[in-house]
Amino acid sequence: MSSINIGIIGTGSISQFHLDAYEANQNVKITAICDQNKKRANDIAQKYGAEYVFENYEDMLQLKELDAISICTWNNSHAKLSIASLKAGKHVLVEKPLCITVEEAEEIQHIAKETDRVVQVGVVRRFDPNTQMVKSFVDGEMFGDFYYAKASSLRRAGNPGGWFADKEKSGGGPLIDIGVHVIDLCWYLMGKPKPVSISANTYYELGNRSNVKHVPFYKAADYDPTKNNVEDMANSIIRFENGASLMLDVSFTLHATKDETAVKLYGTKGGIELAPELKIITEQHDTMLNILPQTVSPKLDVKKAFTNEINHFIECCQSGEEPISSLDDGVQMMRILNGIYESANRRQEITL
Ligand SMILES: NC(=O)c1ccc[n+]([C@@H]2O[C@H](COP(=O)([O-])OP(=O)(O)OC[C@H]3O[C@@H](n4cnc5c(N)ncnc54)[C@H](O)[C@@H]3O)[C@@H](O)[C@H]2O)c1
Repeated sequence: MSSINIGIIGTGSISQFHLDAYEANQNVKITAICDQNKKRANDIAQKYGAEYVFENYEDMLQLKELDAISICTWNNSHAKLSIASLKAGKHVLVEKPLCITVEEAEEIQHIAKETDRVVQVGVVRRFDPNTQMVKSFVDGEMFGDFYYAKASSLRRAGNPGGWFADKEKSGGGPLIDIGVHVIDLCWYLMGKPKPVSISANTYYELGNRSNVKHVPFYKAADYDPTKNNVEDMANSIIRFENGASLMLDVSFTLHATKDETAVKLYGTKGGIELAPELKIITEQHDTMLNILPQTVSPKLDVKKAFTNEINHFIECCQSGEEPISSLDDGVQMMRILNGIYESANRRQEITL
């Protein structure tokens, strides 16, 4: 298999996970680095031995030897950068969320169809070892039909600030940032049923709570607590064509006793609790069984998930196969996310 020359756009917090995984992959050369922050780009290029450094992505995309691009920038640039990369003949791994609007998502889809390039969406939790294991159980029909799922990602005081809290750059708050992970996991394991209606609420009650002491949390590279116009909490019920439903709640800030993540799916023959800790639930011989599979960790393994995600992307670039986290799935997720915001804004259930 030929080696893949990678370019990274955006060298803030999450790019480190991409870069470490690319560096560990023998089929990859980290060739070019781009960030509008020149110092950050230079530091990262030096750290990972990249030959080229750019402040402007258009200059970087002119490099003929680049095969593929990782997009690790603010959400409002994802569509523009994906489209420019595809037009320049590069494969694309774009961080979640795919973009901000459904129109942008469909535009990327339209351009991608005109090329033979790979587009993978960075819903990294599909690549966590535990997710991959339970997916094989799902495919083996261990759980019957899933009719209900619950997705939660609640932070007490974890607004990342900076662009994350600036709606124009992020597209929204915890829903589009962390909600996308847990919705996607449930939807993927449920077999990607077609969403038909959404009833949702968003709340802007607590602000970013940067005043709260002694609580470490994920921050944007250019952290700034002064700008905040995103929701601090959202909840929703999503109904699917097959009758199944998904209940969601997410927050950046909330008066709760602790942070909580839940990914739970309930089927006709059994259930899965993927988060906070992996458990399988079933019934045999008139007895309820709570099964603890033998795994390296019952919790999300972020580093391993990124390694698997990046390795899968490189394999798809080499083979031309459609990624597990496909562009079409990313577009459908944008319909769900935008539907949640629309229902909350209109204060009524909406149909998709
Ligand atoms: N998969 C995950 O678990 C996960 C976790 C965190 C963030 N993310 C996603 O990764 C992306 C980046 O998040 P982050 O936390 O690294 O943010 P960050 O603020 O730490 O870094 C973003 C970087 O992108 C640069 N940038 C922005 N627009 C640019 C442009 N047009 N051209 C060149 N450089 C540009 C900024 O200067 C900054 O250095 C977001 O889309 C976010 O949703 C994913």
